[in-house]
Amino acid sequence: MKANRGVGDGLEGVVAAETRLSDVDGERGQLVIAGHAVEDLAGSASFERVLALLWSSAGLSYDEASVRSSLGAARVVAFEQLGRLGDALDKTDGMDALRASVAHLEPSADSCARLTGATAVFAAAWSRRREGKAPVAPRPELGHASDFLRMVRGEPADEPRAIAMETYLNGIVDHGMNASTFVARVIASTGSDDVSAIVGAIGALKGPLHGGAPGPVLDMLDAVGKKERATDWIAEELRAGRRIMGMGHRIYRVRDPRAAVFERSVERLERAEEERGGGSAAFTRLEVARAVEREAEAALGAKYPERPLRANVEFYTAVLLEAVGLSRAMFSPTFAVGRVAGWCAHAHEQRRVGRLIRPASRYVGPAPNSASVTRPDT
Ligand code: COA
Repeated sequence: MKANRGVGDGLEGVVAAETRLSDVDGERGQLVIAGHAVEDLAGSASFERVLALLWSSAGLSYDEASVRSSLGAARVVAFEQLGRLGDALDKTDGMDALRASVAHLEPSADSCARLTGATAVFAAAWSRRREGKAPVAPRPELGHASDFLRMVRGEPADEPRAIAMETYLNGIVDHGMNASTFVARVIASTGSDDVSAIVGAIGALKGPLHGGAPGPVLDMLDAVGKKERATDWIAEELRAGRRIMGMGHRIYRVRDPRAAVFERSVERLERAEEERGGGSAAFTRLEVARAVEREAEAALGAKYPERPLRANVEFYTAVLLEAVGLSRAMFSPTFAVGRVAGWCAHAHEQRRVGRLIRPASRYVGPAPNSASVTRPDT
């Protein structure tokens, strides 16, 4: 029986916190992270700079240099811990592996750098083991994005790819009160530790309604194959009642600003590759992706004239992460590698509020019936 809840099933529009960390304006398509538009931050700042802004907004004392050194040291410590993770990294799913390995960490007072460093090392080690290769030791002097890519791929990342990786991590580091961030805040509000908050958030991010769409976007681009097929393919999908992956968003009524940021990033990668005299499959992808987006937008616009359904973050995430050389299985863990820093900032911000998050529910079960539980007289 469906109850009259009096609130939206998904708590839409409910304000659960005041935050200095990020703001999502779904009508205007604007994302602000720690006082900066995502367009200004993502492709220009280092990940370390973004974390310094975010973490200091949450009341932690960091600057870019201290983030860089703390993250480098954290990667080294996490790598030394790999041998003590038991079978955590043997799991088939990368998010299960991340959740299990992060759960091994000991809680400590200020652990945002430690958790962010460890998430990158554990995700990269899982990916290497999955390919039957040995984990690659971190190089603490490198930037976090570049070193993460190096630890996954086993070779130094060239500059254009390292920048694209950094653009991605910056672009997804925080995004308002999304499901996993809410989980992290609820756990922190109980007075629990950062490790517990992050383990819970990883569990929430694993769900296909939250962090799992970029893989299916690539499946779709594979299925379309050539840009000339986009129109017919989209029409057929919609006729069959299927959803077009990477299109539509709960909050945005216009194109997700991160889609544009990531699209430009792949374009820059393309130009850099051309200058070096190469071409690559990633650029055929970009062409197909643009054709699919155009056709999907037109077809969805015709089908749902009242409900704008435009490209979301996952659409060009898929193209970008493939272009930097990550496998589909690594897409969700890589999301966690960036978002962990946002979760941790939210956990700290929530603790400063100092109040337990404890909403109410409306009981719609049967009235008390003592007869059914009273022990019969003997
Ligand atoms: N393709 C086709 N139809 C879509 C669609 C899509 N990508 N997204 C929404 N619709 C349809 C819905 O089926 C619904 O139709 P109906 O009224 O006939 O049932 C209508 O548009 C309105 O959808 P709405 O309820 O406003 O969407 P939502 O807020 O529940 O869903 C998403 C948001 C993101 C879950 C949804 O757009 C979706 O499934 N997109 C594809 C998956 C994806 O890209 N996920 C990553 C999100 S970041």
